Amino acid sequence: MEITVVFLLLCSACFYLALPSSHLRVFFLVERKNRIDALQLCKDSNSTLTTVYDDKEDLHFIRKLIHENIYRVWVGLSHTRDNVSTWSDGVPFTFNASVVTLGTGDQICEAMDKNTWKGFNCSDRIPFMCYNKTDEYILIEKKKNWCQAQKYCRTHYTDLVSISNQTQNQEVIQMGKNRTFWIGLLHDEWEWEDKTCSTFRHWMPIFPSSSSPRQHGSVLLSFSDIFFLLPFAVDNESSGLCSKGNTRIRVINQTLTWEKAFDYCTENHKVLLWINSPSDQEAVEQWLNHTEVSGPLWLGLRQSHLFGFWIWANESSSEVVEYNKWKNGTVPELPLSHHCGAIAKEDDYMWSDKDCRLQLPFLCEEDMN
Ligand SMILES: *[C@@H]1O[C@H](CO)[C@@H](O)[C@H](O)[C@H]1NC(C)=O
Ligand SMILES: *[C@@H]1O[C@H](CO)[C@@H](O)[C@H](O)[C@H]1NC(C)=O
Ligand SMILES: *[C@@H]1O[C@H](CO)[C@@H](O)[C@H](O)[C@H]1NC(C)=O
Ligand SMILES: *[C@@H]1O[C@H](CO)[C@@H](O)[C@H](O)[C@H]1NC(C)=O
Ligand SMILES: *[C@@H]1O[C@H](CO)[C@@H](O)[C@H](O)[C@H]1NC(C)=O
Ligand SMILES: *[C@@H]1O[C@H](CO)[C@@H](O)[C@H](O)[C@H]1NC(C)=O
Ligand SMILES: *[C@@H]1O[C@H](CO)[C@@H](O)[C@H](O)[C@H]1NC(C)=O
Ligand SMILES: *[C@@H]1O[C@H](CO)[C@@H](O)[C@H](O)[C@H]1NC(C)=O
Ligand SMILES: *[C@@H]1O[C@H](CO)[C@@H](O)[C@H](O)[C@H]1NC(C)=O
Ligand SMILES: *[C@@H]1O[C@H](CO)[C@@H](O)[C@H](O)[C@H]1NC(C)=O
Ligand SMILES: *[C@@H]1O[C@H](CO)[C@@H](O)[C@H](O)[C@H]1NC(C)=O
Repeated sequence: MEITVVFLLLCSACFYLALPSSHLRVFFLVERKNRIDALQLCKDSNSTLTTVYDDKEDLHFIRKLIHENIYRVWVGLSHTRDNVSTWSDGVPFTFNASVVTLGTGDQICEAMDKNTWKGFNCSDRIPFMCYNKTDEYILIEKKKNWCQAQKYCRTHYTDLVSISNQTQNQEVIQMGKNRTFWIGLLHDEWEWEDKTCSTFRHWMPIFPSSSSPRQHGSVLLSFSDIFFLLPFAVDNESSGLCSKGNTRIRVINQTLTWEKAFDYCTENHKVLLWINSPSDQEAVEQWLNHTEVSGPLWLGLRQSHLFGFWIWANESSSEVVEYNKWKNGTVPELPLSHHCGAIAKEDDYMWSDKDCRLQLPFLCEEDMN
């Protein structure tokens, strides 16, 4: 840590990193409209109809965020995809060893299973195969859903593997060691407005049958008894749920020391959470306001023992804290300060310095694009 800090000190004059003003996902509702108008209202504020990522944290949050008297909101899912079957890396789908038949509304992801292709529920967590620039195939034995697997491959290698011919198919099988693993093929007629990958598809129990599913091209999230996605094209009186920022806030409700929390986020998500702007601060306040967790929670805030300045910590590219929301408006200073930073709902969402050895719950960042 001190090495990074020294580097930063020496180099703070050489460059300046400007972050986009909206990195953490922040939500707002727009007035009752039809979908086209709702989407336009979102776009007017540089946002879009929101993507729902799971039926736990996201849905729980959304239910609390929208007022008790709102039962339905427009979300970003729509029936817009030209090609139903697509390879993650954009290679055209020509070689077809699939036996999948797609029903209306289905999202099916293809895996190699017993050396043949098989359609799975995209939410299933199984190993997966990536490839890198030299076209080498890498079997990753971590268990992830298809979207998480795609994200992992794009971050660490090039993409999920795609298959264009029988020769390549055999090579993939060879490298697969008889495991069941994701390949890059997705069958899905529906797409989220911001083009991010989400396996959330909790449709209403009976999907309306129709000769043309495009008649049901847009989707409401309904909370009337239980929640479900409702394909509905003509409703003109639902609120739109907009959001901007493609980084999800993940609340980790287990208590760890700052170092351990830092390692946990780096390993499982992206990084211990950074707050770089008023918009990020608003996103955290909004998220914590509608989540049952009591603070303080660790942030990626760390103070140099030697020089006393505060940084946003990351494995590779730490950054000096600029925007801040310290309690009392005063930056904790040596020699009395503790060296790690946390945020607490109970402190009106202000930041405070804490002993790094304390065990606290914490916030991670997770990239979605
Ligand atoms: C949207 O973004 C554009 C370009 O970045 C900016 O000029 C404009 O002020 C933004 N609008 C709002 C409402 O934030
Ligand atoms: C969609 O399919 C057509 C015909 O197979 C192909 O020419 C086109 O490249 C595909 N588009 C994408 C985005 O894969
Ligand atoms: C791939 O082959 C299967 C089985 O023959 C067929 O049902 C499916 O429609 C084909 N997919 C495409 C996109 O042509
Ligand atoms: C896929 O799996 C999820 C989570 O296990 C489940 O909620 C969902 O109903 C499944 N979808 C289908 C189409 O079976
Ligand atoms: C590709 O992956 C293989 C196996 O992990 C590795 O040996 C090779 O160095 C990688 N090449 C590139 C260009 O990343
Ligand atoms: C199979 O596809 C790969 C990737 O597109 C290509 O490099 C290779 O030449 C193809 N092999 C044959 C036999 O067509
Ligand atoms: C995969 O399974 C087949 C038969 O099920 C077996 O013959 C083969 O040796 C196995 N390959 C590996 C790499 O384990
Ligand atoms: C929705 O449409 C109905 C029927 O066309 C109309 O009576 C009503 O005023 C519309 N509501 C809004 C909010 O535009
Ligand atoms: C927290 O939620 C309540 C109820 O929705 C709202 O009145 C309040 O403004 C919110 N506070 C923050 C900081 O978002
Ligand atoms: C966090 O843990 C506490 C105590 O175990 C529990 O009451 C609370 O509901 C949990 N919050 C979340 C968001 O899981
Ligand atoms: C913060 O402000 C309160 C009230 O203004 C004051 O009593 C307290 O001493 C301040 N704490 C610090 C650390 O400055």
